[in-house]
Amino acid sequence: MSLAVIVLAAGQGKRMHSALPKVLHALAGKPLLAHVLDTVRTLAPAQVLVVHGHGGADVRAAFAGAPVTWVEQAQQLGTGHALAQALPQVARGAQVLVLNGDVPLVRGDTLKRLVAASAKGLAICTSDLSDPAGYGRVVRDARKRVRRVVEHKDASARDLRIREWYAGFLAAPAARLAAWLAKVRPANAQEEYYLTDVIALAVKDRAAIATVPAADPWEVAGVNSRHELALLERAYQSGQAKRLLDAGVALADLWRVDVRGELACGRDVAIDVNCVFEGSVKLGDRVRVGPNCVLRNVSVDADTEILAYSLIDTATIGKRCRIGPFSRMRPGVTLGDEVHVGNFVELKASRIGAGSKANHLSYIGDTDVGSRVNVGAGTITCNYDGTAKHRTVIEDDCFIGSDATLVAPVTIAKGSYIGAGSTISKDTPAGQLTVARAKQVSLPNWKPRKK
Ligand code: UD1
Ligand code: CA
Repeated sequence: MSLAVIVLAAGQGKRMHSALPKVLHALAGKPLLAHVLDTVRTLAPAQVLVVHGHGGADVRAAFAGAPVTWVEQAQQLGTGHALAQALPQVARGAQVLVLNGDVPLVRGDTLKRLVAASAKGLAICTSDLSDPAGYGRVVRDARKRVRRVVEHKDASARDLRIREWYAGFLAAPAARLAAWLAKVRPANAQEEYYLTDVIALAVKDRAAIATVPAADPWEVAGVNSRHELALLERAYQSGQAKRLLDAGVALADLWRVDVRGELACGRDVAIDVNCVFEGSVKLGDRVRVGPNCVLRNVSVDADTEILAYSLIDTATIGKRCRIGPFSRMRPGVTLGDEVHVGNFVELKASRIGAGSKANHLSYIGDTDVGSRVNVGAGTITCNYDGTAKHRTVIEDDCFIGSDATLVAPVTIAKGSYIGAGSTISKDTPAGQLTVARAKQVSLPNWKPRKK
């Protein structure tokens, strides 16, 4: 049977108090809707439809190119109304899985169980693992059969004592779901078409109702406010921290690490407090990361040490390097083995060969640095002439004196020495000392001016 997934994502998210549509708010650096869609992909559905409305153009733009069908719900009249906009586009014989776009951490295996349980009728995902405040309660009869789901705002004092609640995912055959949905009326506290009214209608229709319990409280936690989002972020991050610790990573503090992407670590990696890992980060064996570092799309080879307050974006770093404190790498940096990059050194689109050092206060951009080069303090590559960027080449075994200015395009040939304070705008010959600065003069008859 073919599976069609419908994600409801048209709500404004009033309680977020934000101009950004709720499903674009980020959890672990990724929009809520992206979490849902990534999980949905693991089910390999025949069709994925996303109902958008509030801020729809922004939502579509954020997911441009995603293999989904967009369905507009011009007015947000409730979750049932949202589903009704999408359902006509689904093949009648399909099995339909409906998800809330604001429940980001649902697991693929829970959804698979839900779809499997819906073969004969309606299957709903429920939870009783966490506080049900705000959620729709699952009302059962004396024989424990599901009768209906009642929304928190419509619930009686007795209903509110029920701990089991609807987690925001259901599955059913398309044709039957459409028939139930057609009967939903907005006769409730919020005057909305509730998707959850489908449950009582399915009961009336004598359909089999299956409940699939969620595996843990966080996978069913909805994001309705920034506070809920913040709690979910911490829950997600503590899960990441546990995964790292269980794999042998030494985290200085499990509460102070943020993984916003994929972090893969070798053996005996140590990570100090307040580090942020974004995109895809790979740390080789015995890599140490000091406190307050940010690493985005970085691969670091074994035994390299990154000291405090370093910010590294899109780089490949060799073995036994020493980076920081306070180093900054902008995208496109490759470091060979045993490279030292020190404090207040900024690198961009540059390759630095094995054993080279730039230890203090430099800007090295669009540059190829060979091996065993020493770049003195304050050295600057002038890569930009106001119109175009140019490359600097510093060949093997060069020594660049402090405060040198290298005006690109320029090549410093193998084994060159550059005198401190030089402004180099012409290629230098190999193995020679080049000095390009005004000669020092002293004035013997000079007297300080009287005050
Ligand atoms: C909903 C359920 C509630 C359940 C909870 C689980 C209903 C009526 N209630 O409540 O039983 O416990 O989810 O998290 O379904 N949306 C639209 N169009 C609309 C309204 C909402 O697309 O007109 C989307 C929202 O963007 C959101 C999802 O549907 O992604 C759920 O809507 P929301 O208003 O957050 O419902 P809850 O009050 O959380
Ligand atoms: Ca919600």
